[in-house]
Amino acid sequence: MTYQFDEAVFKARLNQDAEFVNRAMDTLLPIDQGPESRLMEAVRYAALMGGKRVRPYLTLHTAALFNVDVKRALRVASAVEMVHCYSLVHDDLPAMDDDDLRRGQPTCHIKFDEATAILAGDALLTRAFEVLSEEGTHQDATIRIDLVKELSKASGAFGMVGGQMLDLVAHEHELDMSEVARLQRMKTGGLINFACVSGAILGKASESALNKLHSYAHDVGLAFQIADDLLDATGDAEQVGKRTGKDAAQGKATFVSLMGVEQAREQAALLRDQAIDQLDIFGDKADPLRDMAHFVVNRVS
Ligand code: IPE
Ligand code: IPE
Ligand code: MG
Ligand code: MG
Ligand code: MG
Repeated sequence: MTYQFDEAVFKARLNQDAEFVNRAMDTLLPIDQGPESRLMEAVRYAALMGGKRVRPYLTLHTAALFNVDVKRALRVASAVEMVHCYSLVHDDLPAMDDDDLRRGQPTCHIKFDEATAILAGDALLTRAFEVLSEEGTHQDATIRIDLVKELSKASGAFGMVGGQMLDLVAHEHELDMSEVARLQRMKTGGLINFACVSGAILGKASESALNKLHSYAHDVGLAFQIADDLLDATGDAEQVGKRTGKDAAQGKATFVSLMGVEQAREQAALLRDQAIDQLDIFGDKADPLRDMAHFVVNRVS
């Protein structure tokens, strides 16, 4: 088996998939009329304006390993992206990272106002679970409940939200490498893990396939967050689409603050190779996932 990363082929596929996901999300998050219409306007602003759509890509291409109906996979891909977009809206609030730029545009609370941004986040989060629970996601209710349970775990106090709490209190303690890894596994890894295993849940994959995808997600998730920290430390706002230099300014413990830039890059590359090794049992069909492992460490935004 000879695999090679072809960036042009990958970019075309990522863009195409983003287009499909954008269309699905556009339908799932309809424009509202009436005096409350500002809420859906903010929801659509936060959800439909850009974003790399990494998590949807992971759901779509793990689902493809098990020949899942694309319409179903797109609903789950949309749900995970809704939770991600909500997390960004709240992450940018003045009480958290206090950012004014996201995906190259003003953040939701700058474009609208703080209260509207909080509600838009709430609406995205709850809509994600509504979408998973609907019959169009899977005819088998036990599969739908499984998806709801896994996304809840990935997003909640022992997943993303818990990771955000750790991130906020991190400057109060000296974190070592394993503590930073735990923080990042919760903050970023949970949703990436859900994105990877949701395709397998939809496809009723075997235990061994599921385990391989868990391992792949673990490595890709950490590599992804190391790249995010590197972009914060070394990128510029125009290219990255969000303010940079903030982690150091806020005294956040990151892989870069602990290891330095060079070692962080090496660690990300190591995780990329390890992630790719997890995919052997899937053969060529997993090439889009191998590509993503390359992308998460090479990305410039
Ligand atoms: C940024 O995520 C926040 C982190 C979890 C590190 P992405 O880099 O996936 O952001 P978008 O969706 O492309 O804007
Ligand atoms: C936030 O991490 C991850 C979330 C759960 C939203 P960061 O605070 O590092 O994300 P960016 O750098 O603002 O995108
Ligand atoms: Mg943050
Ligand atoms: Mg932030
Ligand atoms: Mg960051």
